[in-house]
Amino acid sequence: MKKFTFLILMIVAACSTEQKEMTNNVQSLSTVEQHRPVFHFTPPSMWMNDPNGMVFYEGEYHLFYQHFPDSTVWGPMHWGHAVSKDLVNWEHLPIALYPDSLGYIFSGSAVVDWNNTSGLGDKANPPMVAIFTYHDPLGVEKGTDTYQTQGIAFSLDKGRVWEKYAENPVLENPGIKDFRDPKVFWHEKTKKWVMIFAAQDRVKIYHSANLKEWTFASDFGENSGNHGGVWECPDLFVLDNPSQPNRKQWVMLVSINPGGPNGGSATQYFLGDFDGEVFTNVNPDSSTLWVDYGKDNYAGVTWSDIPKADGRRIFIGWMSNWQYANKVPTEKWRSAMIFPRTLSLSDTELGLRLVSKPVAEISKLREKMTTLEAETINVSKDISLKSSTFEVLLQFDLTNSNAAVFGVTLSNELGEEVKVGYDTNNSEYFINRIKSGKSDFSDSFSGKHVAPRLTDEATMKMRLLVDVASVELFADDGLTVLTEVFFPNKDYDKVSLYTKDGSVNLKEGKFYPLKKPQVSEL
Ligand code: FRU
Repeated sequence: MKKFTFLILMIVAACSTEQKEMTNNVQSLSTVEQHRPVFHFTPPSMWMNDPNGMVFYEGEYHLFYQHFPDSTVWGPMHWGHAVSKDLVNWEHLPIALYPDSLGYIFSGSAVVDWNNTSGLGDKANPPMVAIFTYHDPLGVEKGTDTYQTQGIAFSLDKGRVWEKYAENPVLENPGIKDFRDPKVFWHEKTKKWVMIFAAQDRVKIYHSANLKEWTFASDFGENSGNHGGVWECPDLFVLDNPSQPNRKQWVMLVSINPGGPNGGSATQYFLGDFDGEVFTNVNPDSSTLWVDYGKDNYAGVTWSDIPKADGRRIFIGWMSNWQYANKVPTEKWRSAMIFPRTLSLSDTELGLRLVSKPVAEISKLREKMTTLEAETINVSKDISLKSSTFEVLLQFDLTNSNAAVFGVTLSNELGEEVKVGYDTNNSEYFINRIKSGKSDFSDSFSGKHVAPRLTDEATMKMRLLVDVASVELFADDGLTVLTEVFFPNKDYDKVSLYTKDGSVNLKEGKFYPLKKPQVSEL
């Protein structure tokens, strides 16, 4: 009996120590699986690429994703699934869509069919409908051009159980090899569903009354944007136009691979008019507009059915690049999503430009703030608070600053580092991951990647989200964004401000360690 009581006590003691370590030590959480982010969404295991089917319904944000549950490299695609009540804490759910005789389940979207136009549910219980691309590997093998078609599936129980529509595909392929990634939304003026998807380096627009029968409306893209690669994962929506109060502005996102501003995959956007059938680019500037200049934000699209009272346009992308996505040095899982962002427009001297900000719910993860006092930074200042998961907001006063380069260094005791900053001579923000750690898995990984500053405000704002293996830079309140991943041999735990060839005036800074959200496993 005594022995038994002793054993119980030992177990309880062991459990409570373990729990303490789990809750108190962000560092130890990240080292459980090397490079596993703490507050960014990752699959429980194995391969993940594009976010899919994001839709909000009955208090839940659904996030589906391209997933191969049998390997850490890309393969037969399924839709993995998770839900969240706040975009921060997540619950993993079973795989929603499996490949079938028509093919793998490639990227797509989901909507709530509120008026039951599809007849797949009823008005009291509207169906959630997923619209995705079937990719038929047998068609590829046979050398056909018609192996990508669009299919639908529906759920009547808040996305838990999915049934494929019996008469799939709902859109046959006319003979175009790249014919994929449907994004569907309800167009109020014409009272029709609109589907846009990518076809080679164009966007195709179709419409439908019932999500089942689709009519071709138009093509977009011949003389617009970047054509350095295949177009993928488009999205089309309105944002408030700040230059014309009460006016809305249509915005189209189109991912492109390769052709990104720093090589490989990236997402461009267009500003235009849309009448339900034709999208007209109204941006007078012929240069390509990029959602994010970093190498690691791809295939991002926005949530459907966000309630009017909320009104946000919420975006999430895949934090990787096809140049090396299959080779990054993680073992049990591959890749993460960016932290969810809200999109809006800003009226700049260059014209309207897209602005991205982390969703406000990030504040739920903030731990005790440390204020960085105003001071002149010369060469280097350690602001380290021993954290590899944090948010830092910095304001620099450029009026009396003369540094050629300044910014933030993340580093470890092995001498590995990432530098995130601004180069005043070139008016460019950058992320430099040349000495960041493991990089020999791909020739395209290492490098210094740059982005233009789009304002000449005397106060420069830099906001960084750092999470073990990634940094997202939101400069000038989100006007210029760079997202990149890195793989240090030991987690970075030192954060410092630095300058080169001169000094810079820090006006103020706020540093928040970020804690691990709740993620419930299957
Ligand atoms: C984009 C993409 C999509 C496709 C999916 C396949 O990353 O290539 O065009 O549907 O990934 O997994």
